[in-house]
Amino acid sequence: MAQGLDGVIAAETVLSDVDGLAGRLVIRGRDVAGLAAGFTFEQALALLWDGFFDLPAPPELALRLGRARRAAFEAMPPLDPALLALEPIEAVRALIARQPDGGDLEAALTLVAGAAVFTPAVVRARQGLAPIAPDPGRSHAADVLHMLGAPSGPAQARAFDAYLCTVIDHGLNASTFAARVVASTGAGLTSAVQAGLSALKGPLHGGAPGPVIAMLDEIGAAGRAEAWLEAALDRGERLMGFGHRIYRVRDPRADALKDALGALGAGGGGDAARLRLAEAVERAALRQLRRRKPDRPLDVNVEFYTALLLEALAFPPDAFTCVFAMARTAGWIAHAREQAAGGRLIRPQSLYIGPRPVAA
Ligand code: ACO
Repeated sequence: MAQGLDGVIAAETVLSDVDGLAGRLVIRGRDVAGLAAGFTFEQALALLWDGFFDLPAPPELALRLGRARRAAFEAMPPLDPALLALEPIEAVRALIARQPDGGDLEAALTLVAGAAVFTPAVVRARQGLAPIAPDPGRSHAADVLHMLGAPSGPAQARAFDAYLCTVIDHGLNASTFAARVVASTGAGLTSAVQAGLSALKGPLHGGAPGPVIAMLDEIGAAGRAEAWLEAALDRGERLMGFGHRIYRVRDPRADALKDALGALGAGGGGDAARLRLAEAVERAALRQLRRRKPDRPLDVNVEFYTALLLEALAFPPDAFTCVFAMARTAGWIAHAREQAAGGRLIRPQSLYIGPRPVAA
């Protein structure tokens, strides 16, 4: 039996291909580096959803997404204390759960817009700040930063577009598989996205980048990295931002995000000292992991530089998973549509190893 379905092929897809040995990610025929460097989120959305919806021309799609952000903001209920006591990803999940199940482009845009609007609203409300209404005339990336109350000029919007495009889809990862299982039952897009959100939340998947910031803060200085990491590994902890089920080499998304961080530069919110600390921690972590797991290549994954980029863009660490979800919602939706169009009900079997009834 394949523990954790390791190596099992459970779907055919035209959406993305993860080559774990070469360290290559192709999304609809494009290398992730090209997507990160040259695409806006709206363009990546059009690329990913092509053939799965009756898409309008790109400018019209961007307009409709902007209108969906405004509609999501107007329909947002008051963010009450019970909601705000939840973790941000739980609060955003609860807000998205209010959207009825559907299967058309409008339902899909409403879900993408919901993640983009609810995340900054929840972040601000938890800080005691009023929500900022979206400006549908801005690009999706710039508008999210604007709703956060963060710098949202061209440099920041470009860096955030690079992030959103980099993580928009990634093969049959845990959250995408969860979304496809739900879609295979005939449930609608909101249900599939809820499944994706729930799987993404875990620290072994999309919950990793927040703890990366905590790790960097605790280490504090490059000279302390080796001892800190050694102690963490001695305690049996996993180093967040390292290792991957599929990649046996460096995750190509890490470099796409590091490039985006470099392009952002000090003027845009980048912090050269922070980056030097992160690079020192990365080197020390790789040394430790190679020494302790010589037979299992463990390298840096997407979440390590996600943490630095989202921090530079002024997202608080406890909301990083929500920001990941903003992009990946588009991927879950495309996979849900692909599954619903061609797939059978996903229903594997388990091997019963419990007791048998005793004959009377
Ligand atoms: N730190 C320390 N040890 C690790 C790490 C790590 N980050 N990753 C794997 N290992 C160890 C495992 O404990 C295991 O050791 P063992 O054989 O003594 O039990 C060995 O390496 C092999 O583990 P894998 O089979 O490669 O792990 P798996 O494929 O089950 O898990 C995962 C992959 C969950 C990503 C893991 O590497 C991990 O926990 N990383 C830290 C969390 C993280 O960064 N998650 C984000 C992943 S990217 C994403 O989902 C968007």
